[in-house]
Amino acid sequence: MIKPYLSENNCELGCGYGFNLELIKGNNYGGEYSQYAVDLGKRLGHDLVQFNYYNESDYDFIKLNSTVFTVHSIEQMPDAKVIIDSLYKQKDKINYVVHFDPSFLPHRKNFIGKARNKYIELNDYNRNLYSYITSRTDIIEVVALEYDIISMQINPLNSTNFIAYKFK
Ligand SMILES: C[S@@+](CC[C@H](N)C(=O)[O-])C[C@H]1O[C@@H](n2cnc3c(N)ncnc32)[C@H](O)[C@@H]1O
Repeated sequence: MIKPYLSENNCELGCGYGFNLELIKGNNYGGEYSQYAVDLGKRLGHDLVQFNYYNESDYDFIKLNSTVFTVHSIEQMPDAKVIIDSLYKQKDKINYVVHFDPSFLPHRKNFIGKARNKYIELNDYNRNLYSYITSRTDIIEVVALEYDIISMQINPLNSTNFIAYKFK
């Protein structure tokens, strides 16, 4: 799903030890909060730095001509506004942003949908990644969007959504 949006450089934020960086072609690099994961990833040969979603200056490590992507890491950030706003400040270096992340979805109405939203609330997981992105049509052009594509970790309540966009 990420293939059409890859760039010369591909950056995963919240990348853990860099597992996903091994799955895609390109000059791949990542940022991760856990120093242990960064150290392990470096031992495995990955280009990693310590990174905290909440620090706007941490996003400066993003390289020119990059696709930035996330996989189940924004799920752990209750409010995604700081992330999107910080990425926007780096927009001249970013070709595409691609998220594979769970989030609260206000339009969920059926039983499994309501259970997924409840699961997010009980775990204090992300509430607004998709509603914030789709509301910022002034700065964002969404190019692909699919809800509830897979459930990782054999957990049907923590389902992954997919969105790809570029900044205007
Ligand atoms: C479920 S793991 C996913 C790791 C990786 N993306 C993968 O798919 O293998 C969530 C990751 O988000 C990272 N994370 C949590 N809070 C973060 C923050 N404030 N800044 C950066 N990374 C964070 C965690 O340390 C962890 O590595």
